[in-house]
Amino acid sequence: MHTINEYREEFIAYLDSKKITKEPRNLYEPITYILGLGGKRLRPVLVLMTAEIFKGDFKNALDAALAIEVFHNFSLVHDDIMDDAPVRRGETTVHEKWDINTGILSGDAMLILAYQLFENYEPNVFRDLAKLFSKTALEVCEGQQYDVDFETRDDVMLPEYLKMIEYKTAVLVAAALKMGAIVAGASDTAQEKMYSFGLNLGIAFQLQDDYLDVFGDPETFGKQVGGDIIENKKTYLYLKALNSGSEMMTKELEHLYSIQPKESEAKISAVRSIFEKTEADKATKVAIADYTARAFDVLEEMEIEPENKELLKQFGENLMNRTV
Ligand code: IPE
Ligand code: IPE
Ligand code: MG
Ligand code: MG
Ligand code: MG
Repeated sequence: MHTINEYREEFIAYLDSKKITKEPRNLYEPITYILGLGGKRLRPVLVLMTAEIFKGDFKNALDAALAIEVFHNFSLVHDDIMDDAPVRRGETTVHEKWDINTGILSGDAMLILAYQLFENYEPNVFRDLAKLFSKTALEVCEGQQYDVDFETRDDVMLPEYLKMIEYKTAVLVAAALKMGAIVAGASDTAQEKMYSFGLNLGIAFQLQDDYLDVFGDPETFGKQVGGDIIENKKTYLYLKALNSGSEMMTKELEHLYSIQPKESEAKISAVRSIFEKTEADKATKVAIADYTARAFDVLEEMEIEPENKELLKQFGENLMNRTV
């Protein structure tokens, strides 16, 4: 086994070795740009780590890891168009640096490039990876559509929100873990346990993403703080604040989410303060810890080496305490 940092470095070296520099530049440059902006590389690290947990060679999992990171970056390029986001990983988003059409087409190409990477596996593994990937990718689209639909709905319920984040975010984290297990030839039961661990961790991860979007440090967060508030996103924070029991807060929040001011700073700070007063911030932290604990419960049932459980646990704890 290796450390989390070693897996990340191995992955980055592999990514660099696969850089595409060809014509037309306006198709490929945005791809190199977004993939080169870094990010935490969580999903590829999970693929490599799981492959070794099930006694495979992580090197055989590099193409699956790359596929998932390329897909993730494709989803970010399109997500930033949909969310009208100006900043990603501390830099200008693709559609702002180039334009929306470039973002759409480079994104499409990334989705195809991701699939192409599975061709490097032998037929049985190829089939399992491609099958999981197609199912996951479609679910991500469904989650993204719900996310956008919810912006203009005022009757979103908590279970709908949880389904939405499971689809837009958690299934990809779960798929990363399962892919590592597939490449290493782990049993179906082991694959499913890994998937379930990833699903709970992924839900905690998106809850934390929602939290940081409001309470993150603008200096280090790498995205526009308050972006979800500007876009009227129905996040866990919002739904908890709305149902906090205070009629005054509910009315004010509903009002704030019905206006689209030219300058958004006042709206952001008013909404942030409602999230604090209603203790929606605390409730979100509790939910993050709860889903992380659920993930750890699944981990306990797994038949893997204790030190590998510890490694996955450490990974989950790092996610819960992250600031980026
Ligand atoms: C951002 O994912 C999109 C979500 C699903 C919340 P990450 O937070 O993993 O983004 P990077 O890759 O580290 O930038
Ligand atoms: C991201 O959700 C989900 C996908 C990209 C599929 P967000 O819209 O919250 O992600 P960020 O905050 O822009 O990274
Ligand atoms: Mg977004
Ligand atoms: Mg989004
Ligand atoms: Mg977000």
